[in-house]
Amino acid sequence: MNTCRGVYILGFTLQFKVLVSDPLAEEGVAILRETCDVDVRTDLTEEQLIEAIKDYDAILVRSGTQVTTEVIEAGEKLKFIGRAGAGVDNIDTEAATRRGIPVANAPSGNTLAATEHTIAMMCSLARNIPQATASLKKKEWKRSKFMGVELNEKTLGIVGLGRIGREIAKRAQAMEMKIVGFDPFVTKEHAAQIGVELMEVDDLVKVADFITVHTPLTPETTHLINAERIATMKDGVRMINCARGGIIDEQAMYDGLVSGKIAGAALDVFESEPPFESPLLALDNVIVTPHLGASTVEAQKNVAVSVAKQCLAVFAGEPAKYA
Ligand code: NAD
Ligand code: MLT
Repeated sequence: MNTCRGVYILGFTLQFKVLVSDPLAEEGVAILRETCDVDVRTDLTEEQLIEAIKDYDAILVRSGTQVTTEVIEAGEKLKFIGRAGAGVDNIDTEAATRRGIPVANAPSGNTLAATEHTIAMMCSLARNIPQATASLKKKEWKRSKFMGVELNEKTLGIVGLGRIGREIAKRAQAMEMKIVGFDPFVTKEHAAQIGVELMEVDDLVKVADFITVHTPLTPETTHLINAERIATMKDGVRMINCARGGIIDEQAMYDGLVSGKIAGAALDVFESEPPFESPLLALDNVIVTPHLGASTVEAQKNVAVSVAKQCLAVFAGEPAKYA
């Protein structure tokens, strides 16, 4: 804890206390420390958090802390909930709204990190790089076992043409892939401008060699890629999920990977995290990372600075506006 100058508002200097309950880049914490008392406590259980939150004016989280109804209701002084990242799935936004507490995220700060991770996963999947690395480190030299496929002239299906989906389209075109996309909130004209042929999801799954999903997890997108749609895919399709676990039905994907319908999958996110009980981890044609999409130095700095600034804006009586 440190004691600082306080936030000057309407002729008064107010002292605010901020709880940072997940690891947040130091650049964001430093901005808060200039004017607020900041405690970084990343090891609180939910019960400890419910007890501790009473003292704080704001809480800043990444994806680890569950900001539940109970936490929000216990936060008598809470004026701001900040999410250093895009998805607010770990925050009960309805409970916050009921109490009039603004919830702010930093949706664009990690867009390029997640985009580059997706491209890295797609390339690794096409060329079996993680499996080949593990094999060679066991002192094996199996060149024919790890025969790959090229991305050149393959069709990439992008489900969700928002910030990340569009950046992926741009980069995949540089690798001479043909891009098809599905997004009910994007027009055909706009899609065409970014080099994407827009189509219905049922058509996309039939023509794509690689399918990558980039939507939020909502009731409409939960199991959007399900057993019925997988059955209509090309044999040997490859799938990537660096968005949210549950957009692709994991059981259906597992069945497709075991039967050979799906040649491989690259997963950064899971229906339950960490996915230690998932049978997907045992499959050789599945490559995985532990929700690393946003884990770059640059992205973590961006999102931390963004939520810190939004927190101070709210303390000063202004709206939270992400930069
Ligand atoms: P975004 O809001 O910019 O884009 C999401 C797109 O999905 C929008 O264009 C929207 O129209 C579309 N969409 C909504 N409902 C849809 C539906 N039913 N069918 C098809 N499309 C639909 O979000 P973004 O910043 O591009 O992020 C995409 C996803 O990636 C989010 O789930 C986000 O939480 C996740 N994400 C993950 C990581 C990671 O660490 N793995 C990092 C950043 C973001
Ligand atoms: C996000 O929603 O921003 C990502 O999943 C990354 C994260 O949780 O930090």
